[in-house]
Amino acid sequence: MTEAILLVGGKGTRLRPLTVHTPKPMVPAAGVPFLSHQLARARAAGVEHIVLATSYLAEVFEPYFGDGSDLGLHLEYVTEQEPLGTGGAIRNVASRLRSGPDEPVLIFNGDILTGLDIRALVDTHTGSGADVSLHLTRVDDPRAYGLVPTDADGRVTAFLEKPQTPEEIVTDQINAGAYVFNRSVIDSIPAGRPVSVERETFPGLLAAGAHLQGMVDSTYWLDLGTPQAFVRGSADLVLGRAPSPAVPGRCGDRLVLPGADVAADAKLTGGTVVGAGATVGAGARVDGSTVLDGAVVEPGARVHDSLIGAGARVGARTVLEGAVVGDGAEVGADNELRDGVRVWCAARIPAGAVRFSSDQ
Ligand code: GDD
Ligand code: MG
Repeated sequence: MTEAILLVGGKGTRLRPLTVHTPKPMVPAAGVPFLSHQLARARAAGVEHIVLATSYLAEVFEPYFGDGSDLGLHLEYVTEQEPLGTGGAIRNVASRLRSGPDEPVLIFNGDILTGLDIRALVDTHTGSGADVSLHLTRVDDPRAYGLVPTDADGRVTAFLEKPQTPEEIVTDQINAGAYVFNRSVIDSIPAGRPVSVERETFPGLLAAGAHLQGMVDSTYWLDLGTPQAFVRGSADLVLGRAPSPAVPGRCGDRLVLPGADVAADAKLTGGTVVGAGATVGAGARVDGSTVLDGAVVEPGARVHDSLIGAGARVGARTVLEGAVVGDGAEVGADNELRDGVRVWCAARIPAGAVRFSSDQ
């Protein structure tokens, strides 16, 4: 087993509204583009050849990762003219694979942060003789995911993408977005048209009697589909809860990148990352948050579980709680922003303009 496909295209690739020009895989998590963590974890599991299947903004990946040799990888890039869906994207890169028909190929959704034991998934695959094996995890609310019930031997009995009705919610096991496919299964996906692996390929394989094997692994797992999840994931990387060889420096309560300027009495906790050229002023408290490059957190601000975009400014004594401040936005002093509020890139909020608490 030496190769993998990484899916980094489709509609959900941009972290909206924060980074208008940056595709999500390139938004920094724990100081490096998120994709670095997936690449490094795959490499650590023995993967040597990775094909990046993307559908737009491909031009940002190659200048950064090049041929992958810095990571000990051989990286290739394939760009779809129009998004081909997950299955279409996999089929579209088949000609780049080197594996023989019976050899296993790893496939990863590009927006997942996980501690999955990749070798164990491959071993499960080879050991069970399956056509496809899937990493499964358990979640409280499975509606946003693909539901994957299995029998007593772990064999997949159905695949229900984004179940709509209560009757469809037959299990809390979901598709965690990492698969092993036999090469011949990839070649059997129709070419040249959009295909959803979740809605077409998996149900079709099951109907045809193919062997799909599930491996439930309840290690760290997070879909980084929202900015809030992104902040959580970045903090968990810094804290060491989400394992990645690509975290720069040692894991701990905070990660302050070179060139950041943090006041001596500022308090950074909970896996907070402060990017290059960012400033955190006197007495500020930043917990479980990401402060991207060049952002400014003024004295006395209190920031919790929030994302502050590149070059954005958060005024003195302002409180951010579960907030997203877009790149280049300015939140004036003495504001209070809470509960999933998103400040658009380059927007301006005057001092003392937004408060949640009573007027005292
Ligand atoms: N190249 C390419 N082309 N990649 C695509 C395309 C496409 O047209 N469409 C989606 N992708 C990539 C996305 O970039 C992402 O990395 C992955 O495929 C999954 O797509 P999402 O759009 O993020 O799907 P989702 O999160 O709603 O659901 C998927 O992930 C869940 C786990 O997080 C499904 O696989 C679910 O079954 C699964 O539970
Ligand atoms: Mg997703």
